[in-house]
Amino acid sequence: MAEELQGFEGLGVQEILQKVTEQFGNRAAFSTSLSWEDQVITHYIFANDLPIRVFTLDTGRLFPETYSVFNRTIERYGKKIEVFFPKHEGVEKLVTEKGMSSFYESLENRKECCFIRKVEPLNRALENVDCWITGLRAEHSENRKGLEIVERDEQRGLIKVNPLLHWSLEEVKDVIKKFNIPYNSLHDKGFVSIGCQPCTRAVKEGEDFRAGRWWWENSDKKECGLHS
Ligand code: ADX
Ligand code: SF4
Repeated sequence: MAEELQGFEGLGVQEILQKVTEQFGNRAAFSTSLSWEDQVITHYIFANDLPIRVFTLDTGRLFPETYSVFNRTIERYGKKIEVFFPKHEGVEKLVTEKGMSSFYESLENRKECCFIRKVEPLNRALENVDCWITGLRAEHSENRKGLEIVERDEQRGLIKVNPLLHWSLEEVKDVIKKFNIPYNSLHDKGFVSIGCQPCTRAVKEGEDFRAGRWWWENSDKKECGLHS
């Protein structure tokens, strides 16, 4: 295993972020969807004045509650979150040709929308980045159970670090409470995993963590391309 991938197992989130800072400085970037997991990581980056960049992808279809977390976070920490939007040509062509809700019609259409609104902006956000930090947790899905805290993203040619990989949702919530970290009010209304408004719904007691994402599709298809 390459040297930069070693020594992360067993470390806490602060130690992982410290190690990333030592190895990558501002060539490390954290992608936040402003979920409660991501708010925990943002807290540790901002509260400790780490040089790690923090960015979000605004698909143009997010919930008002998500924008509220964005505002409350930059106010609370006095720091910047970089925002990446989709290219206007791609969105204009998509909705002109296929309307505002093409993603419900087929998996192909849904992936096309996710590509234009999320994946392409992510690829731009990750230019000049050597280390990409995410809020992925193993508990999220079967696919994510196979991840490691530190991995190599061969496709993008960078190191990917998932500091909360082995955390439970309870641990995430405890930290949110402990430090009074701003979080999305939708989490109190049954929304666990939150993405775009038309593609996210609340889940019922006992339902799967990602049951509220792209609920009309088979569960093995539920990735938008950010992490595949
Ligand atoms: S998704 O692929 O299904 O949308 P999910 O919502 O579970 O992903 O989030 C997993 C991780 O992907 C987040 O912790 C974050 O690092 C990244 N991510 C997801 N959506 C965004 C977004 N809109 N902006 C930035 N990062 C995101
Ligand atoms: Fe489009 Fe839905 Fe994907 Fe958002 S989650 S980019 S609205 S298909």
